Amino acid sequence: MRCILSLLLCVLLAAEPSVAAFYYPTAQVSLLDHILVDNWGAYASNFSSAITPCTNYVTEVGEPALISGRTTAAQWIRVAFHDYVTANVTAGTGGLDASIGFETLRSENSGSAMNDSFTFWRPFMNDAVSMSDLVAIGTVMSMSLCGGHKLPFRPGRVDAMAADPTTGVPAPETDLNTTLLYFARAGFDRSDAIGLTACGHTMGSVHHGGFPDVVPVSAVTANNTNGGINFDTTRGVFDPLVVHEYIDWTGHMGGPLVTTDNVTTRSDLRLYESDSNSTMRALYAQGEGFLDTCVNLMGRMVNTVPSGVTLGDPIQPMLIKPINVTYDFSTDGNLTLSGRIRVLTSAGETAPSYLTLKAGSSNQQLTSEAETGTSVFGANIKSTASAYGTTTYFPFIIAGRQTAGAKSFTISWPGRKTATFPIQDDVFVVPSATEISGTVINATVAARSGINGGAYSIQIAAPTAQMGTLGPKVIRATLNMRRLPGMNDGYALWQGSVDLGKVPTGLVSVSVMREGATIDTFMVNPGAAGW
Ligand code: HEM
Ligand SMILES: *[C@@H]1O[C@H](CO)[C@@H](O)[C@H](O)[C@H]1NC(C)=O
Ligand SMILES: *[C@@H]1O[C@H](CO)[C@@H](O)[C@H](O)[C@H]1NC(C)=O
Ligand SMILES: *[C@@H]1O[C@H](CO)[C@@H](O)[C@H](O)[C@H]1NC(C)=O
Ligand SMILES: *[C@@H]1O[C@H](CO)[C@@H](O)[C@H](O)[C@H]1NC(C)=O
Ligand SMILES: *[C@@H]1O[C@H](CO)[C@@H](O)[C@H](O)[C@H]1NC(C)=O
Ligand SMILES: *[C@@H]1O[C@H](CO)[C@@H](O)[C@H](O)[C@H]1NC(C)=O
Ligand SMILES: *[C@@H]1O[C@H](CO)[C@@H](O)[C@H](O)[C@H]1NC(C)=O
Ligand SMILES: *[C@@H]1O[C@H](CO)[C@@H](O)[C@H](O)[C@H]1NC(C)=O
Ligand SMILES: *[C@@H]1O[C@H](CO)[C@@H](O)[C@H](O)[C@H]1NC(C)=O
Ligand SMILES: *[C@@H]1O[C@H](CO)[C@@H](O)[C@H](O)[C@H]1NC(C)=O
Repeated sequence: MRCILSLLLCVLLAAEPSVAAFYYPTAQVSLLDHILVDNWGAYASNFSSAITPCTNYVTEVGEPALISGRTTAAQWIRVAFHDYVTANVTAGTGGLDASIGFETLRSENSGSAMNDSFTFWRPFMNDAVSMSDLVAIGTVMSMSLCGGHKLPFRPGRVDAMAADPTTGVPAPETDLNTTLLYFARAGFDRSDAIGLTACGHTMGSVHHGGFPDVVPVSAVTANNTNGGINFDTTRGVFDPLVVHEYIDWTGHMGGPLVTTDNVTTRSDLRLYESDSNSTMRALYAQGEGFLDTCVNLMGRMVNTVPSGVTLGDPIQPMLIKPINVTYDFSTDGNLTLSGRIRVLTSAGETAPSYLTLKAGSSNQQLTSEAETGTSVFGANIKSTASAYGTTTYFPFIIAGRQTAGAKSFTISWPGRKTATFPIQDDVFVVPSATEISGTVINATVAARSGINGGAYSIQIAAPTAQMGTLGPKVIRATLNMRRLPGMNDGYALWQGSVDLGKVPTGLVSVSVMREGATIDTFMVNPGAAGW
């Protein structure tokens, strides 16, 4: 991004997080689109595999996971609820801000869900993707992969730096009035609270480990080591069954928080019948429409954020998406532009056999790799569950001298609108000469001949561990660069290194800045990053 229009615009652009030439449209949206769209198969994000099948427990592996009686997809939803419900919408505080990470020792947050989930999400956090966006996307993924309807994902949550001073999450023994007060504080009236609880309690279980006053020790068996009793007959499916089993008094009859022998801990029964079951009956009557009610209620939940935080527009999966597009130098020192183009096609639609990529004087036909991926986007919901969308990948590598000075490249295929993506080769971070070893980052920047590399500064933003939460905190540093002797295919190289003092927990952003504007960002994997 350049300061071509005015100084004022420059300042505005500088305030935008992660304006980057090679992440389309931004690093934030590109990384979150990856989690949402690239579910299984080629280049899939690890996010979906954690909840595939939807009964999976990712914290353990093999047999211990199978017999744990715990469910990652359900834990993710519960974490979002506990993060959200201490919001005070009148005061404009709390909501989805990842403060729950600091609050795991409060008895109201009993159970292993909080730290289990944060442990999985932690490597995905970085300067572009906040922990609170990951808390929210966890719920979105559980719904879209496990039978629920798609909840549009809006990015932009900002992480709290400390625990929320507001306490009060409904627990099994909490009386009805207090429970309703907590929901009302967070903007939900009685019928909203009943609906949201039914939506949440369609997945997962109550465990003896964590809730011995709800589930007796007898539930702990060799095959159910944490003693989980499920809310409904399908603990791994986001469906209307919990409502139906409650009203029909069949199956699990609404679950342990309805049926437990200990009357004090029947919180779901108290809530559900607090309006004489009229909300539950209305949800029952909706049939599959219950899933749309859940999109609405869960959406209000994950989009409750502190005042001052503005969420972006819902992320629309990109049908044509350039991924890992970077300038770099080949081993023989020549400039290259390389990457992959992801094409997303719907079930029943055929992926193109080739794409045309034009950049500068280069005009290439790209052919696809054999291995494809599958996505919940483009799924044919009227067909069988296997009718998913397909992601097809088209790799490319172009000699830099063919793209010299190019400000964009285009992708087209017959019958489609041509897509155009901005690019620049004036100044860029050199991926093959930028690395992290332990706590030290060593970065190289290339500046085209005639450009004053000294006018640029290099800023580092690294997620690192902090006390009291498994949510990382981004620390920043500026690199002092020194010019290396000689030229590399028409480029001067500048190098710098800094000891961050801490080992990064996820992708580290290396940004080339000029007059407050980001010219290029490259995100480096220190080895631990989730993908
Ligand atoms: C009156 C309000 C609520 C109370 C008292 C309550 C209480 C509980 C308790 C005690 C558990 C068992 C946790 C464990 O043993 O691991 C649980 C599980 C769960 N709750 Fe709630 N809950 C309430 C509302 C909600 C809401 C509004 C949501 C989400 C929208 C939600 C989502 C979940 C999920 C998904 C689980 C299953 C977790 C797992 O299987 O690990 N709950 N709830
Ligand atoms: C929410 O915040 C407002 C304003 O600070 C305060 O008056 C009110 O008591 C709070 N509500 C709850 C339920 O704590
Ligand atoms: C609960 O609140 C209602 C009104 O909001 C009140 O009439 C009732 O007495 C309260 N019950 C308890 C047990 O505090
Ligand atoms: C029922 O649960 C309450 C609240 O957790 C607890 O104080 C009480 O001891 C339990 N009663 C029995 C009989 O276990
Ligand atoms: C133990 O759990 C596994 C997986 O949930 C199930 O397939 C198996 O039938 C169970 N075995 C017994 C004895 O309940
Ligand atoms: C509400 O529905 C449940 C489950 O069907 C039933 O056990 C309970 O008696 C009902 N309560 C009221 C007040 O209607
Ligand atoms: C993009 O780069 C990352 C990190 O090197 C790699 O794990 C991933 O597979 C790449 N994806 C594509 C589509 O090239
Ligand atoms: C590197 O660039 C030189 C000069 O432009 C060219 O002759 C050579 O073939 C290039 N090497 C490769 C591997 O493209
Ligand atoms: C940084 O990497 C370059 C090679 O890419 C190497 O020459 C240099 O010694 C490294 N500097 C540090 C401080 O590791
Ligand atoms: C969760 O992790 C944090 C950070 O490591 C730790 O301080 C806290 O004690 C953990 N909570 C639980 C319940 O183990
Ligand atoms: C993906 O997740 C699995 C656990 O499900 C883990 O073993 C693996 O290291 C992860 N891979 C990456 C690239 O994050």
